[in-house]
Amino acid sequence: MKLAIAGKGGVGKTSLTVWLGDYLSRQGEEVMLLDADTALSLGQALGLKENDIPTPLIQDKKLIQERVGEGFFQINPRVDDLPDKISKQVGNLKFMVMGTISDAGSGCACSPNALVKALLAHLFVEKNQWIIVDLEAGVEHLGRGTIEYVDGLIVVSEPSMRGLQTAARISVLARQIGLDRQLLIINRAPVDFKLPDLPGLPSLAATIPVLPSLASRQLESSSVLDLAEKEELDKVAAEIIATLKKNTAKP
Ligand SMILES: Nc1ncnc2c1ncn2[C@@H]1O[C@H](COP(=O)(O)OP(=O)(O)OP(=O)(O)O)[C@@H](O)[C@H]1O
Ligand SMILES: [Mg+2]
Repeated sequence: MKLAIAGKGGVGKTSLTVWLGDYLSRQGEEVMLLDADTALSLGQALGLKENDIPTPLIQDKKLIQERVGEGFFQINPRVDDLPDKISKQVGNLKFMVMGTISDAGSGCACSPNALVKALLAHLFVEKNQWIIVDLEAGVEHLGRGTIEYVDGLIVVSEPSMRGLQTAARISVLARQIGLDRQLLIINRAPVDFKLPDLPGLPSLAATIPVLPSLASRQLESSSVLDLAEKEELDKVAAEIIATLKKNTAKP
C-alpha cells in the first residue's frame, strides 16, 4: 500500500512515518519511507547523522533533466530503477529523500514534482510492500497533486483547534482528488481526549500520548526509534494498519 502522512507543522508526521515503517518491517513487510519534506528530518528521526542522509532527489539536476526534461515534461518518466539507485537501507527499512520543490537549489519549479508524482504513480507495490510518504506541513502539496497516486492518507493532528482545522482542510482537499481512504491520528493526546465536532475531519483511528522517553532525549538525539513506549506505539501502528485495510475498496 502507498500511504502519505500529512498535517500541520510539528504535529508528529515524521515520527509517525518512522513508527509505522518500523512496525511494518518487524512484521516482515517490505517498507520504503519517502521524505517529501524540506527539513530532511526523516533521516534524523531514523537515527542517521546528517552526513549519512542522502542528497534529495530533486537536487539531482542531471537525473531530473535526463528523466523528465524541461519545458514539455515527459508524461511517463522512467522511475522503476530509482528506488535501487537512490534509496538507502536503514536496518530493514528502505529510505529515499525526495525533498520538496520549495527546496533551495532544486532543479526547476515543476519537473522534480513530476518525477515524484511519477514515482508514486508507477511504482508497483505488492501486498506485503509499503511506501510511506512523509509530507511537508500544511496543505500546499495537495495543490501540486503530490499524493494523487497514494492509496491512503493518514492525517496527524495535535489536540488543538488549529491542528484540527488544518487536518480538516487536508482531508477535504484530498477527498476532492478522490483519496477517500483516510484516517486521523491525534498525537500528544491527553487521556481524556474528546474529538470536537469539526466538519471535514477523517474518522479518528488512534491517539498517541506524550511520550516521556522521546521528550527527554530531544537534546541528545533526534531518533524516534527504540523508545521505552515501543509496545504502546506498536499497538497504535497495528490499529492504523487494520483500519486502513478494512477501510475501502482500493488495494
Ligand atoms: N508523542 C510525542 N511525545 C513526545 N514528543 C513527540 C511526540 N511526537 C513527536 N514528538 C517530538 O516532536 C517533534 C516534532 O515531531 P515531528 O518531527 O515528527 O513532527 P512533524 O509533523 O514531522 O514536523 P514538521 O512539520 O516540522 O515536519 C520532534 O522533536 C518529535 O521527537
Ligand atoms: Mg516532519
